Amino acid sequence: MNFQEEIKQGIPSALPQAKPYPADANRAPKRKDILSVDEKQLAIRNALRYFPKEWHQELATEFAQELKDFGRIYMYRFKPSYHMKSRSIADYPAKCQQAAAIMLMVENNLDPAVAQHPEELITYGGNGAVFQNWAQYLLAMKYLSEMESDQTLHLYSGHPMGLFPSSPDAPRVVVTNGMMIPNYSQPDDWEKFNALGVTQYGQMTAGSFMYIGPQGIVHGTTITVMNAFRKVLNKGESPQGKIFLTAGLGGMSGAQPKAGNIANCVTICAEVNANAATKRHQQGWVDELIDNMPDLISRVKEAQTNEEVVSIAYIGNIVDVWESFYEQEIFIHLGSDQTSLHNPWSGGYYPVDISYEESNRLIREEPEVFKEKVQSTLKRHAAAVNKHTARGTYFFDYGNAFLLEASRAGGDVMAENGIDFKYPSYVQDILGPMCFDYGFGPFRWVCASGKPEDLDKTDVIAASVLKKIMADSPEEIQQQMQDNITWIEDAKQNKLVVGSQARILYADAQGRMEIAKAFNDAIESGEIGPVVLGRDHHDVSGTDSPFRETSNIYDGSRFTADMAIHNVIGDSFRGATWVSIHNGGGVGWGEVTNGGFGMFLDGSEAAERRLKSMLLFDVNNGIARRSWARNEEANFAIKREMARTPKLKVTLANLVEDDILNNLSF
Ligand SMILES: NC(=O)c1ccc[n+]([C@@H]2O[C@H](COP(=O)([O-])OP(=O)(O)OC[C@H]3O[C@@H](n4cnc5c(N)ncnc54)[C@H](O)[C@@H]3O)[C@@H](O)[C@H]2O)c1
Repeated sequence: MNFQEEIKQGIPSALPQAKPYPADANRAPKRKDILSVDEKQLAIRNALRYFPKEWHQELATEFAQELKDFGRIYMYRFKPSYHMKSRSIADYPAKCQQAAAIMLMVENNLDPAVAQHPEELITYGGNGAVFQNWAQYLLAMKYLSEMESDQTLHLYSGHPMGLFPSSPDAPRVVVTNGMMIPNYSQPDDWEKFNALGVTQYGQMTAGSFMYIGPQGIVHGTTITVMNAFRKVLNKGESPQGKIFLTAGLGGMSGAQPKAGNIANCVTICAEVNANAATKRHQQGWVDELIDNMPDLISRVKEAQTNEEVVSIAYIGNIVDVWESFYEQEIFIHLGSDQTSLHNPWSGGYYPVDISYEESNRLIREEPEVFKEKVQSTLKRHAAAVNKHTARGTYFFDYGNAFLLEASRAGGDVMAENGIDFKYPSYVQDILGPMCFDYGFGPFRWVCASGKPEDLDKTDVIAASVLKKIMADSPEEIQQQMQDNITWIEDAKQNKLVVGSQARILYADAQGRMEIAKAFNDAIESGEIGPVVLGRDHHDVSGTDSPFRETSNIYDGSRFTADMAIHNVIGDSFRGATWVSIHNGGGVGWGEVTNGGFGMFLDGSEAAERRLKSMLLFDVNNGIARRSWARNEEANFAIKREMARTPKLKVTLANLVEDDILNNLSF
C-alpha cells in the first residue's frame, strides 16, 4: 500500500502487527499513574471505541500494558509505516487543497526531525500533543482526504468528532485542546483526563499544527535578547563580551545560545541533562561545552576580557552557576531562565546537589521528596539571582513560570506590594511595549510546494514589502522594522529550516497583510506555489496569559480570557482555513488560554479577500484590548489603524488624573 492509499484507509481494515519500540526514539517521560482501577477500565473502554469488536480482546491487553508502562495509551501499533514528514502539497490525497495543506502541517509537526517525542505524538515542551493517540491521527488524516470545500472537521483535543457540512468560507478544521470546565483545570486534572483519553495538552503550536521547528523560537529569542541589551546598555554600546546567563538547552530553550550569538553577546546556558547539551553542541547551536565550574569561570573571564561573541553550554545545575559567579564577582548583564517550570514536578526543573539520575528516580519513586527538593532549590535560585540584581544585573522571567513557581515555593521574588513580582516578565518590559502593543508578532509562512527556491523567493518578497513600508513608518516602529528586515535578509544564511520550508518574522498588521497579499499575487502569477500562513499563539491577540503574553496588561483584566476567545471566533468567520483554541501552552495547564490560525493562500481572489479581513482583525483585536488597558503604545497603534481603516471603530480609554483618585477616601 502506498502513502496515499494508507492515508485514505484511515484505521486499517486488518489488525496491524504489534511493533517493537524503535530503540533510538526520544521517548516521552512516563506519566503519572493517576487513575483508579475503575478509571483504568474506562480509559481502555474509551480507547477501544476506535476499533472493531473482534480486536478488543487483544488490544485491551495491549492498551492495559501501555497504561501501566507509560501512563497513557498511545496505540503504538497503529503508527503508520510511511516516513512522517511534510511532503509537497501535490503528494497528498485530497479533494480540496486546503485540506491537503492541513495534512502537510500535521505531518510536519510529527516529523522526527521536528518533533520532540514523535512516537507519542508530542511536538515540543514535553507534553505538547498533536493527537492523543495514533487512531486519532489516522482518522483525522482520512477525514481530511475525504473533505470537500464545504465541510468542516471538528477536533476535540485530537479526537476527530467528524466532518460537518459548512461553507467554503468557513474554516476547514476547528481545533480545541484541553478546554475544561474552569474548576477542573488543575495540573492533576490534565494527568487524569488525558490518561482517560478525553483531553490533551496542545501547547501552543503543537496541537494546532503550526510548529515550524526551532526557527520560530530562535527569532523570538533573538528579538528579546537584542532588546534586553538595548534596555541595559548605553545607545550604541555593543553587547560583545557582556554576559547573558540562562538555563535550559531543550526544545525551545536550546535556541538561547544561537540567539545570543546573533545578538552578539556571551551566552552561558546551564543544562543538567548532558545528552541535551551535547545534542545542541553537535547541531552547532552552542559553540562550546564545559562540564566543570573552574573551567567555566576561567573561560567566561577570558570571553569578557576579549569582548567575544560566544555561546557556552555548562553541563550542570543553573543554581551552581549563579552562586559561583557571585563568589567570583563575575558581572552578569542579563539573566533569565528557561527550565521547564511550567511542569515543575515531573522533570521540568532539576534540584541542585543531586544527580540527574537520582532526580529521575525520585520523580518516579518518591515524588513528594522530589517536590520538596525542587522547592528548596527554587528558593536558593531566587536568592542567588537577588544577590546579582543587587549588583546591577537585569533579570527577566522568560515565560517559563520561574517567578510563579519560585513564589509558590516561598522564594524571595515578590515585590513590596505583595501582588507583583520583583522582576518583570520579558513581555512586561520587552516584547509587550516594544512589539505586541504595536501589533508586531511572530507571523510565519510555509511554502506548500516544499521547494527551497519558493522559500528564497518569499524571503525576497517579504524583505521588499517591509522596506517599502518602513520608508513611511513612524519613528516609534522604525527599530522593529529594521530588526526584521535584517533578520529576513540573513535568514537563509542562518540555516534555520528544519522540516517544512518555513519562515518567521515579526510584523504588524500592515506588514502581515501586505506580505500576504504580495505572496498571493506571486502565487497567482505562477512565481511561487501555494503558501500556508500562520503565527505562533504567543502573539498580540491570540493569548491571554497573565504571567506572560498579557503580563503587561495593568487594568486587572489580565486574568480574563475574553481576548483569546474573541480572536478565535473572529478569525473563524473572517476566512481562516483552520482555527484552534487551547488551555495551557508555555506556562502550563490552567494558566493560559491561547489560540491560533492557519490560512491557505492559493492565489485566488477569495484568498485575497480572506487574508485582508482576517489578518486585520487577528492583530487589531489585541491592540484594541491593550489600548483599552491604557497601554500607550497600543493606543498609538490603534489610532493609526483607525486612520487607515475607516470601518474600524474602537472604544478608546479616557485617562484619569492620579490626584483625583489619591484624594478619595474609602
Ligand atoms: N516565552 C517564550 O517565548 C518561551 C520560549 C521558550 C520557552 N519558554 C518556556 O521555557 C521553558 C522551556 O521550554 P523547552 O521547550 O526548552 O523545555 P525542555 O523541557 O525541552 O527544556 C528545558 C531544559 O531545562 C533543563 N533543566 C531543568 N532544570 C534545570 C536546572 N536546574 N539547571 C539546568 N538545566 C535544567 C532540562 O534538562 C531541559 O533540557 C518552558 O516552560 C517554555 O514554556 C518560553
